Amino acid sequence: MAPPSGQTTFQTTGNSGAEKYANINWDELGFGLIPIDYMYVMKCCEEKNFSDGNLIPYGNIEMSPSAGILNYGQGLLEGLKAYRKEDGCDVLLFRPDQNAQRMKNGAERLCMPSPSVEQFVEAVKQTVLANKHWVPPPGKGSLYIRPLLIGSGPILGMSPAPEYTFLIYASPVGNYHKGPLNLVVEDKLHRATPGGTGGVKAVTNYSPVFKAMTQAKANGFSDVLFLDALTGKNIEELSACNIFIVKGNVISTPATHGTILPGVTRKSIMEIAFTFGYQVEEREIPVEDLLEADELFCTGTAMVVNPVACVTYHNKRVEYKTGAETVSHKLYVMLTGIQTGRIEDKMGWTVKV
Ligand code: COI
Repeated sequence: MAPPSGQTTFQTTGNSGAEKYANINWDELGFGLIPIDYMYVMKCCEEKNFSDGNLIPYGNIEMSPSAGILNYGQGLLEGLKAYRKEDGCDVLLFRPDQNAQRMKNGAERLCMPSPSVEQFVEAVKQTVLANKHWVPPPGKGSLYIRPLLIGSGPILGMSPAPEYTFLIYASPVGNYHKGPLNLVVEDKLHRATPGGTGGVKAVTNYSPVFKAMTQAKANGFSDVLFLDALTGKNIEELSACNIFIVKGNVISTPATHGTILPGVTRKSIMEIAFTFGYQVEEREIPVEDLLEADELFCTGTAMVVNPVACVTYHNKRVEYKTGAETVSHKLYVMLTGIQTGRIEDKMGWTVKV
């Protein structure tokens, strides 16, 4: 039961970690939740500073029915991964400071206090260290880390919550998609609007996408490609990842003007492509450009770099190059090489835990 103050409390469920661990088939990891041992929790009340975070056993959380997150969706999520190096011992995080900064930007948009970049990175490291044996063996996947920042305090009138919780849980994962994507362009429902929250990782960006995504899957597609809400003429992103198109030596992705999520993988792929000598453009991409492209691929922390095999728009289907000879494969090999420590990290992106 919640204490009279309505503050969030945490209770834990006592699963046997050893038993769960023994039952994992590391060769069959998908992108589903495998509850692990510990989660990290840090709170911030009236004084607006986060402090005294700590690890507690993974379990359900309890909060007031009038918590800001439950009533008004005041919350952000993040996603980053930890990889085990080929030596089997060291574990690497990929650009955790970027997620920390993005959470700060989102918190500003949603009127929430946020942990500092240093607090965020330290909390992620502690979470990974405490759950280190759940980081899959080299080549089998990664530990997906999910930081949340939520308005956990009770509030009835429309207003920011009086208490906030920063929480990190994690799960071992494999590939998000199995193979190249078969997309459909969604021209009625939209993911983001100008002045809205599409450019931050608000939890409320995700469920409004379910309808289009569910319909698309029922029709045999893997995901939807959304168009901009203002003109309906330009491509924006998929349900939960960014999109790139390749034409000759030019790699383009929609510019982030508030309706596109500034993905960490998106940014990293642009930087890698630039060092490979490609011309990299952030611009408005009319849907017609899909007809001319050689390749399409999407990027995201969960998705990594996933090729697109075909796109359907107004019943017209366009096919794209996939496979080992593609630009996206070359970028994928470099990115994952750096993330897993197989390729020297000249960018200084990885952080050893
Ligand atoms: C990620 O790539 O980390 C995401 O946030 C996508 C997730 C909603 C599946």
